[in-house]
Amino acid sequence: MHRPVDNFSVEAVVMTAVFGVDIGGSGIKGAPVDLARGVLAQERHKVLTPQPSAPEAVVAAVREVVRHFDHQGPVGLTFPGVVVDGHTRTAANVDKGWVGLDAAGLFREALDLPAVVLNDADAAGLAETTHGAGRGQQGVVLVLTFGTGIGSALFADGVLVPNTELGHLELRGKDAERRASSAAKERHGLDWEQWSGRVDEYLDLVEMLFSPQLIVIGGGVSRKHEKFLPLLRERGARVVPAELRNDAGIVGAAMAAARATD
Ligand code: BGC
Repeated sequence: MHRPVDNFSVEAVVMTAVFGVDIGGSGIKGAPVDLARGVLAQERHKVLTPQPSAPEAVVAAVREVVRHFDHQGPVGLTFPGVVVDGHTRTAANVDKGWVGLDAAGLFREALDLPAVVLNDADAAGLAETTHGAGRGQQGVVLVLTFGTGIGSALFADGVLVPNTELGHLELRGKDAERRASSAAKERHGLDWEQWSGRVDEYLDLVEMLFSPQLIVIGGGVSRKHEKFLPLLRERGARVVPAELRNDAGIVGAAMAAARATD
């Protein structure tokens, strides 16, 4: 006997895809994200970051990346500066025209889709603490990204304190990222040993201030972690390489968009 199904409202479960875009100093890359697994759902599309990286040009490049896919859901975007309520507040390594902009509003309008914007290291941190090297770790976790600058994402029991900007701590009288980022390694022609000495000094400073149990090292240079992690001194915190590497920003941006549009 067949039971009548009329009383049941069979809800169509529509899985809205969420898209992540990582806006960096040299490239803008994006892809739809499989949020359950924390991986890209399709191969990412990348365009070069316009130079100068003025807001209008960057927004056009982002539109090109998103339009490459047939995407209709929310979009999360990273930005390499402080972002509060979708407004970009600083721009250490990108065009100063971003300072004080309603970036989320700009992207929403340009893409005609729901959009959220967050700091690039915070996005990478969300991805790493959920799906990568910081998965399941309680207590204080610090995710640091070494690239053009140094980005930081601080977590206490899995909760992010956004916009910590620890790359701008003072180290030997200088902005720390000017001494210890991977761009500083290139700029000053440092070998791995010399650079890891600088990274050690920097880690001493953040460890003194925050006593993390775990430090996750991300950013482009984390691909070469065998070259420098073994050179670092033993310290209180465990220091491990990031696992999501290049995709952490895209995955974390999509996670933030999914949370915001829940
Ligand atoms: C910016 C941060 C950013 C980091 C990595 C720093 O210069 O101030 O907001 O997370 O670079 O891109």
